[in-house]
Amino acid sequence: MTDQHGTIESHPLRHGEEAETYPPRPEFRAQANVNDSSVYWRAAEDPEAYWADQARRLKWSKPFTEILDWSNPPFAKWFADGELNVAANCLDRHVAAGLGDRVAIHFEGEPGDTRTLTYAELTHEVKRAANMLTSLGVTAGDRVAIYMPMIPETVIAMLAVARLGAAHSVVFGGFSAESLRARIDDARAELVITADGGYRKGRASALKPTVDDALALETGGEPSVQRVLVVERTKNEVAMVPGRDLWWHEEITAFDGDHEPQGFPAENPLFILYTSGTTGKPKGILHTSGGYLTQVSTTHRNVFDLKPETDVYWCTADIGWVTGHSYVVYGPLANGATQVIYEGTPDTPDWGRWWSIVQKYGVTILYTAPTAIRACMKVGRQVPEQYDLSSIRVLGSVGEPINPEAWRWYREIIGAGSAPIVDTWWQTETGAIMISPLPGLTSLKPGSAQVPHPGIDVNVVDEAGNRVDRGQGGLLTIRRPWPSMVRTIWGDDQRFIDTYWAKFGDQYFAGDGARVDEDGDVWLLGRVDDVMNVSGHRLSTAEIESALVEHHAVAESAVIGAHDETTGQAVVAFVILKSQQTLLAPDDAEQALKQHVASQIGAIARPRQIFVVSELPKTRSGKIMRRLLKDVAEGKEVGDTTTLADTAVMQTISARMREGTR
Ligand code: PRX
Repeated sequence: MTDQHGTIESHPLRHGEEAETYPPRPEFRAQANVNDSSVYWRAAEDPEAYWADQARRLKWSKPFTEILDWSNPPFAKWFADGELNVAANCLDRHVAAGLGDRVAIHFEGEPGDTRTLTYAELTHEVKRAANMLTSLGVTAGDRVAIYMPMIPETVIAMLAVARLGAAHSVVFGGFSAESLRARIDDARAELVITADGGYRKGRASALKPTVDDALALETGGEPSVQRVLVVERTKNEVAMVPGRDLWWHEEITAFDGDHEPQGFPAENPLFILYTSGTTGKPKGILHTSGGYLTQVSTTHRNVFDLKPETDVYWCTADIGWVTGHSYVVYGPLANGATQVIYEGTPDTPDWGRWWSIVQKYGVTILYTAPTAIRACMKVGRQVPEQYDLSSIRVLGSVGEPINPEAWRWYREIIGAGSAPIVDTWWQTETGAIMISPLPGLTSLKPGSAQVPHPGIDVNVVDEAGNRVDRGQGGLLTIRRPWPSMVRTIWGDDQRFIDTYWAKFGDQYFAGDGARVDEDGDVWLLGRVDDVMNVSGHRLSTAEIESALVEHHAVAESAVIGAHDETTGQAVVAFVILKSQQTLLAPDDAEQALKQHVASQIGAIARPRQIFVVSELPKTRSGKIMRRLLKDVAEGKEVGDTTTLADTAVMQTISARMREGTR
């Protein structure tokens, strides 16, 4: 099986090797939310009935009678004649059930300040914010951009937008002014909600100045934004543009907590979230209401074995990514969970911070990314061992394959050798977890995401779309529509069809390689396209390449994701400088271009290394062979170079790399 650059990446554990397994402990199984394995075949027999049952756990202001409408593939509609209010499902419903005093959010600021919001308090704040947004002209069908730190107002803002039937577009706070502006323009957002700053790594970072810069950029068009609403968090000095900018805390005082939620159709847009694809332009992934909320709440309850009365759940993801949308905001709140939200980084003021939070709040379910686990491993077990982590009973992993070594460390050191680990495979596009163990049923295998959730139908196929044999690598597809699936790419139905459906017609192509082992467990083998995965975040090679060539000194660039011990992959760039340019001395080029990429896209895209080279390896037809660059960047034996137009070029590059890394 080959992709356009060569072979699907190999996994440390190959076919034929025995993986150790960890069956559920009997005590865990006995109390688990899902402990009857017949759920799998029952859901497989009638997936629509399964999802309809799940959807009926939500509160519908108008019950649905239709389940799935797949009459116009690939544009699915779920529960289309039903109506619901997503925010009321996450809030008012619990208060009405007498759970108003239950803690919804334990907020921990990075400097150590804390806030507790019960469901009654959170509901009250969201109602007030909804009234405030109404006064600013937000109505159903509008888009609101949110560019915020990890603070309760971010959740309040998202839910207030949802309550009004408008759609939010949350842009991760690490993105640059250019990236923010592109997202604002694409969605035609009229309101931006931001903050004066947020705390990260012991500093108050600036957000509002980036919004100002974004709106001031010359893009050839007028910004759609009419108003900027600013939450006070750090008391950073910020410039307020009269007539455009408003302080949240000043505006909100005029509004009380009376707000009746209106029901909206199940297919009403809930949010747009931009993600990197294989071209330079990010894709606006559109999610809608009823199906999305059904699948995020179902998977949250089943996969994490959530007991809302007693569990304290903590997902460390930033709200700017899909994991924050589905498993900080909508899944947990729809389920009435009590959760921790932490503003800052795990190493501030020291690497004990996360574990002190687990101890302080008695966290029982922890959901994080392999890159964070590997970073903690590097620091050493002596740090978590200083804290009481005995409250933990379920551990989750997301964002990239978890290597078996990190899996074992996570279970041993954080999970006291007994907590099940649920490795969850999904994507921005899938909206919710698709493949993972169920902790009361599945015998765990370190490194495998294991089995599709009940009601989900995944397949591993060859280039022609035919299922491959067990043990063989192939391409991961999803055969049936699922409730939380992406509905389209915002404003670009054709790109939606081309990206995900054109390859196989009737199967959704995920962009990942996978292998199913003899037991039927799925092993993810990494992306097969030009999407990199750095610290569990998606970055596109094309987007970084185009940022590099926008620099006046750069003639050509090639970007690859090279293996990195901590971050999974790291961005490595090869650039050719223009021959006549005088802007950059080759010695300064690396730093200057790293900075350039960070300011064009955001700090997350900053390359780990940039090598100035005089040529790039190309085929005779002029296509850059990134696979060869990846080999040199990873210090591997360089693969087959016979198709290169100039076979000497790789030797020159290898020599250049050796110099550069000395
Ligand atoms: O390659 C897969 C990888 O992350 C991609 C999706 O990235 P994103 O849309 O940013 O969503 C990340 C959080 C859901 C996938 O195409 N990926 C995600 N989770 C896993 C994974 N790869 C292997 N194992 C996982 N558990």
